[in-house]
Amino acid sequence: MKISDIKMKLTEKEISNYIDEANNMLKNAYVPYSKFPVAALLIDEQGRKFKGVNVENASYGLGICAERNVIPTAVSEGMKKIRFLVITGGTPEPISPCGACRQVIYEFSDEETVIILTNKEKKYKICSIKELLPYAFGPEDL
Ligand code: THU
Repeated sequence: MKISDIKMKLTEKEISNYIDEANNMLKNAYVPYSKFPVAALLIDEQGRKFKGVNVENASYGLGICAERNVIPTAVSEGMKKIRFLVITGGTPEPISPCGACRQVIYEFSDEETVIILTNKEKKYKICSIKELLPYAFGPEDL
C-alpha cells in the first residue's frame, strides 16, 4: 500500500489529535533511569483505543518499551489487528521504534496498519510495518 493511500485514512485533524494525546501520555512513563519517556497510542480494528508508556525497573533489563506495553494490553482485551499506532518520544526527529518492538508490531499488523512516528514537537512521519521491518519473519513463515 502506498503512503498516500495510508494518509487518506486519517484527516490532518485526527492525526494532530492523536499526536497530542500520545504526547500527553509521556508524563506517565516510568523512566527514572533513562529519563527518556516514550508513549504508544493504539487503535485496534474495532476502533478501540489503548495506551502504553515505557516502564523501567531497578533491574534495568526488565524495563518494557511503550509499544510492547500497549500491544499485550490490547491483545488481552481481544485486539486482533492494529489499525493505527502512534509512537512518540523526546527525539529531535520522529522517534524510531526499537527492533524488538518492530517485530512485535509486525505480529499484529497488516497492509492496512498505519504507524505514525512522532515527537514532542509534533514532527511526524507515517509508515507501514513493512517499511519499518522489511523481510520480516512472521506468523506466515511457520
Ligand atoms: N523505548 C521505548 O519505549 N520504545 C522504543 O521503541 C525505544 C526505546 C524506551 C526503552 C527505555 O525505557 C527508554 O526508551 C530508553 O531506551
